Amino acid sequence: MKPRLIAGIQPTGKLHIGNYLGALKNFVELQNSEKYDCLFFVADLHSLTDPLGWNKPKEKQKQIEDVVLSYLAAGLDPKKSVLFLQSDVPTHSELAWVLNTITPMGELFRMTQFKEKTETHAENTGLFTYPTLMAADILLYDAGFVPVGDDQLQHLELTRTLARKFNTRFGKTFTEPKPLLTEVPRLMSLDMPDKKMSKSRAEGCLFLDDSPNEIRNKIKRAVTDSENSVVYAPEKRPAISNLLLIFSALGGVKIKELESRYKNKGYAEFKADLAEVIVSSLSGFRKRKSELKKQPNLLRKIIKDGAKKAGTLAADKYRLVRKKIGLSLDT
Ligand code: AMP
Ligand code: TRP
Repeated sequence: MKPRLIAGIQPTGKLHIGNYLGALKNFVELQNSEKYDCLFFVADLHSLTDPLGWNKPKEKQKQIEDVVLSYLAAGLDPKKSVLFLQSDVPTHSELAWVLNTITPMGELFRMTQFKEKTETHAENTGLFTYPTLMAADILLYDAGFVPVGDDQLQHLELTRTLARKFNTRFGKTFTEPKPLLTEVPRLMSLDMPDKKMSKSRAEGCLFLDDSPNEIRNKIKRAVTDSENSVVYAPEKRPAISNLLLIFSALGGVKIKELESRYKNKGYAEFKADLAEVIVSSLSGFRKRKSELKKQPNLLRKIIKDGAKKAGTLAADKYRLVRKKIGLSLDT
């Protein structure tokens, strides 16, 4: 049997190139490697911790649809991977509750994402227990691997801790998952290279849906430095290094090779070429996405089928959990 792999993306806004290079592009490569039994879902329950989710149901629905479209347009294939919506499989919430009861509050207070989000989001308990729902997403399926960007590593470590704790108390039940990072686990924003590119700061994002001209303008305006030499030095020269990472990952060219290609050439030429690399590597994605948009019934069918498959796996695992902890009279 192949090892299982699972990942999700929250439907909280347009996907940016950080999501793509840190996660989505990797999802597709891992699926196509045929080394894993893959599940990919839309983390719609997680997205409710963002207050926007509550007062704009139509917008939420659009955002969910957008993630499904992006999955398919990027190359996730329902014939190869199980694609579903988290809230279509209620077992995620059920296991999350059980995990909450073995999670010390101290562990959740330590989470960087919790600390950051309580500064910018309206306070809610979901932000606090977010990592136990994420642990449930993963542990329900015995996933051995989870492809994520580096901002999720702490949550994954907690998932491993909870799996160990449960297994020690009740006997082997869960698999401890390992992260799978890409070469670009943390893309920085275009306007502030010391800040992670994030949906919550649109100014610094290059979105997958941006038009070719928007891409060209954003790259032209992207912050660099006054040295005007194309050199990769993430500590000292974060801005140009970030652009080099994008160029290398999308263009399939080694950073060293780019450094020599642009030796003695200025930023203007480098940026103009980079913009064209981005435009051409996203053009297929944009085209497929607009085609798929015309087929809402197909999308619905894909995620309903996916929910059925995921639901069966999840129900089996949760039945075992209930039995282990004595919640069921079944023998
Ligand atoms: P989210 O939009 O928060 O659900 O994130 C979806 C995926 O994209 C997760 O695996 C994140 O770790 C990853 N991700 C988000 N922002 C970045 C970034 N700036 N660089 C690399 N990966 C990222
Ligand atoms: N927390 C992840 C993020 O913000 C999304 C997510 C939820 C996830 N559950 C998951 C990712 C399970 C991988 C596996 O990006």
